[in-house]
Amino acid sequence: MIYFDNASTSYRKPQRIYDAVYNTMINGAGNSGRGANSVSMAAGRILHDCRTELSLLFHCDKPENIVLKSSVTEALNTILLGLLKPGDHVISSVMEHNSVLRPLEKLRKDGIITYDLLPCDDSGEILLDSLSDLENLNTKAIILSHVSNLTGTIQPAARIRERLRNKDIYIIIDAAQSAGYIKVDMESLKVDAIAFTGHKGLLGPQGTGGFIISDRMNQDMRPVFTGGTGSDSLSLDQPLFLPDKFESGTHNIPGIAGLLEGVKFIKEREINRINEEHMFLSEYFLHHLDALDSIALMGKRTPSGRIPNFSLTFKNMDCSEAAFILENRFNIISRSGYHCAPLAHKALGTGETGSLRISFGHFTTVQDIDQLLVALKYISEVYHGE
Ligand SMILES: Cc1ncc(COP(=O)(O)O)c(C=O)c1O
Repeated sequence: MIYFDNASTSYRKPQRIYDAVYNTMINGAGNSGRGANSVSMAAGRILHDCRTELSLLFHCDKPENIVLKSSVTEALNTILLGLLKPGDHVISSVMEHNSVLRPLEKLRKDGIITYDLLPCDDSGEILLDSLSDLENLNTKAIILSHVSNLTGTIQPAARIRERLRNKDIYIIIDAAQSAGYIKVDMESLKVDAIAFTGHKGLLGPQGTGGFIISDRMNQDMRPVFTGGTGSDSLSLDQPLFLPDKFESGTHNIPGIAGLLEGVKFIKEREINRINEEHMFLSEYFLHHLDALDSIALMGKRTPSGRIPNFSLTFKNMDCSEAAFILENRFNIISRSGYHCAPLAHKALGTGETGSLRISFGHFTTVQDIDQLLVALKYISEVYHGE
């Protein structure tokens, strides 16, 4: 099988990640912070090491400000529900995933917040020029994806802070697609929170993720979930120190042990080199894709300004049919549909059709891409002619 659905979840992962999950379960995945027995202490070390590696990756100088959750979806909900208060206004964009759009829409329907969405251009890049038109006195936060899961477009996250002209507005970044693919740096992006998922570019198992938060924004937030933390156990109140404030209940220690190995793997391979390799593969793919007339690419046609995540549409063919042929005739895994980005499809003119998404991973090779190109050529020429 040739796997091109890494934007959904990465596969395959380095062996050390499978080993870490397995060994943690076999050797005793204790419950961190619950007692001082040796397995509980071992679990605590895994948590500590994972936070430390994540803080190095995201350039956050306080590992305790890294909160571990089960996914970026849980992280984004925890941030939005913990931060927003009645009357607040939020700015987001049409390019967002439903993990941002649905919490915002629910909060709006519950009468708690209002929100406005930035538009995008033809390449799926959001138009920051519209920011000042959308801001109002109640604007509390702006929340944007760092990279579009539909078009792979890298959004101008680093330019948001200067656009806000020293206003007291929190910036929250959904790094689900960027983490592990390009540099995601809390300091240089000058943002207040970054939410990430563990099972995509960071190569961890499913059921891992979290967020990094600035002290400033943390002070303005309340915990959404409450429960056992292993700390302050005689108190009925949720502890207000990080990370316990946002981490109730037993951690996914085997998953976090796998994530730790994934993050170490990314560090060893170096994010700039990963990005360079992806640019090379993207250029190769885009160059050959140009020759296939009946296939249209959504988003940027250049290898720069994007990650290797490509949405395609087909003349006279449904995307799900194309995905079916890819898998059943060529053993190539892709993804067809709307990719949980309904407004992005509307904005880019594919609201009726959806797209077929091809997303490269850390182990995609030129040979894999060659086989994909053969299959796409078959779909666009031979199959169309049948
Ligand atoms: C941009 C973006 N945000 C959020 C998510 C949700 O990720 P998860 O299902 O891991 O919570 C995804 C996953 O597809 C995504 O691409």
